[in-house]
Amino acid sequence: MDRVLPRPLISEDELQHRISELAAEIDRDYRDQEPLLCIGILKGSVFFMVDLLKRVTVPVKIDFLQTSSYRSGTTPGEIRIRKDVDIAIRGKHVLIIEDIVDTGHTLSTVLGLFRFRGAKSVKLCALLDKHKAREVAVNVDYSGFKIDNVFVVGYGLDLDERYRELPYIGVYEPDGDEPSEPSEPSE
Ligand code: PRP
Repeated sequence: MDRVLPRPLISEDELQHRISELAAEIDRDYRDQEPLLCIGILKGSVFFMVDLLKRVTVPVKIDFLQTSSYRSGTTPGEIRIRKDVDIAIRGKHVLIIEDIVDTGHTLSTVLGLFRFRGAKSVKLCALLDKHKAREVAVNVDYSGFKIDNVFVVGYGLDLDERYRELPYIGVYEPDGDEPSEPSEPSE
């Protein structure tokens, strides 16, 4: 059966061009503040993080954090750390790398956690900012694209673990021809 691909929203070329611009901004801002500790939030950030950090020229260290929400139905709730970082945060300039900021609950929690742990500075670089969906305020220091309140997949973003490998960002439209699979409950 042919696979129905999500409707493109941001092309591969547009993504790569904007990522180069973000890398140049990061280089400029952190020129005198190395080494920079870049922390990707699993799993959605991995494609963006790799492409971004291949273009950043200031020395970096990398680490990963994985979170999940306790959800009641589809309502975001308390954030749980599923995999913590390995590198100590205290005294470091930390740059969080994220695929998307949606309600803001995840990033608000993670920013607060790293500040609490004594980071010298904490900034956020997010490829996508679904700003109209915000429930808690989060400052996105490096923002790739502002998008409307649509369900996006590809380039790391998933629908029940599908579509992450697409090289572009697409809009998932549930009324399409693709048969739906049962949703896996979020923890
Ligand atoms: C996504 C995204 C952020 C979070 C943003 O992760 O990568 O971490 O949701 O949502 P919020 O602003 O409403 O808190 P998700 O939980 O889907 O996990 P994944 O990256 O493994 O797909």
